[in-house]
Amino acid sequence: MDYTTLITSRYSVRSFRKTPIAPAHLALILRAGQIAPTAGNRQPQRILVVQQADTISRLAEATPYTFEAPCILAVCADLRKCWQRSADGFCSNLADTAIVTTHMMLQAWDIGVGSCWVCAFDPFMVREILNIPDHYQLDCLLAMGYPDPNAKPGPKHLDRKPLAETVFFETFPA
Ligand SMILES: Cc1cc2nc3c(=O)[nH]c(=O)nc-3n(C[C@H](O)[C@H](O)[C@H](O)COP(=O)(O)O)c2cc1C
Repeated sequence: MDYTTLITSRYSVRSFRKTPIAPAHLALILRAGQIAPTAGNRQPQRILVVQQADTISRLAEATPYTFEAPCILAVCADLRKCWQRSADGFCSNLADTAIVTTHMMLQAWDIGVGSCWVCAFDPFMVREILNIPDHYQLDCLLAMGYPDPNAKPGPKHLDRKPLAETVFFETFPA
């Protein structure tokens, strides 16, 4: 798939087959996260791969958005490892994990694995269920699996603002 086709055809998959992700596919997806750029190349991402059905069932108590996926990645950043800007304390954690997750999401789609980025969860519950260390920020869950044959894009998928509302040239309007 060429890049334009890849990003145009991808959509948030919310209905999955029960089939586990093939190890070779999972390896490619994790490799895509590994090679993503991060601030100062510090690679603060810490990714927990959750495939055990009982753990995923417990996660379903912390979010309605597990979609009974066969695999959920908990994408965290080790706050001790992130790059910080001295001028204002800006911390790269969310930018780093966002690009790592995007790399994985797009690689997944290229090999027929669907995914849905999930931030609507009870962070306290998820942290406890997954035993996430205090110095890790939990930035998102990525529910992944082979799309159910009936999977289709959600109603918001094609709803994009015109570029004129989001992109400006040379100066922002007053
Ligand atoms: C940061 C972020 C958080 C999201 N959280 C959720 C979520 O909690 N539950 C969900 O069903 N989808 C979630 N999504 C998916 C968006 O709803 C989806 O990307 C958007 O509606 C556009 O649809 P599309 O991905 O099919 O193009 C999230 C996406 C992003 C980037």
